[in-house]
Amino acid sequence: MVIFLIPSPVNEQPIGIFDSGVGGLTVANAIKQILPGESLVYFGDTAHLPYGDKSAEAIRYYSGKITEFLLGHNAKVILVACNSASASAFDSLREEFSDRVHLIDVIDPVVDYLSSKNFRKIGVIGTKRTISSGAYDSKIRERIPGTQLVSMATPMLVPMIEEGFIFDDISNAIIRTYLSNEALKDIEALILGCTHYPIIRNQISRFFNFNIEVVDSARIVSMILRDTLEKNNLINDSGNVRDEFFISDYTPYFEKIAKMFFEGEINLRKADIWN
Ligand code: DGL
Repeated sequence: MVIFLIPSPVNEQPIGIFDSGVGGLTVANAIKQILPGESLVYFGDTAHLPYGDKSAEAIRYYSGKITEFLLGHNAKVILVACNSASASAFDSLREEFSDRVHLIDVIDPVVDYLSSKNFRKIGVIGTKRTISSGAYDSKIRERIPGTQLVSMATPMLVPMIEEGFIFDDISNAIIRTYLSNEALKDIEALILGCTHYPIIRNQISRFFNFNIEVVDSARIVSMILRDTLEKNNLINDSGNVRDEFFISDYTPYFEKIAKMFFEGEINLRKADIWN
């Protein structure tokens, strides 16, 4: 007997998303709210977390391998849900894969969003890799020349969040210490330049007495994703939805933290793509 496997139509293929860990689940969560009919295949590179301290070459290598993994899982679009990878690896991913898949990063959509606003002074906080890459500085200088940008690396925030210090004295003290930096005085908006930071968005807004716009890429990027799917006739309206979540190193702790980042049902599986 010969069995023919019928491949799922492109529209039913999942959206591929990756981050260094479970932080990118904040983006996955926003996608689920805006595009509930889409399936997701998520990869968190927990074996190499944090990306913020790695070299650009290492991040480019990891990002390339992960993109191949997601293509192997039939991703119809791939979203780089990590600022460190968007800053260091997006151009090389585009060069290598854009003839096979639509790629979306988390920096360009935020800069485009800000270009429709009239802010005089904006701050951006992110990992050491994102800030030292100068990606936000050069894109904002080019696309919103009248706006002053102050960039600040806040490397303790990712381990703090991954360790679950979120609504307590430790997290409040770290957030306060970073944000009271004189350079951030008089900013009208603050870009959360790391996909982990939406988790502490409220504490950050509260620090500024809710007087500034706290810009979080998750929602902005999900809208861009929706436009991309619509424009390319890739919306899944079949009603068949199946999400898969992979991480490269598994501990029950990641599972616990993941549930904090993602509101839907989540079941992490280990995919050891490095051996
Ligand atoms: N969530 C990642 C980002 O947006 C960074 C976390 C890390 O340093 O691995 O940059």
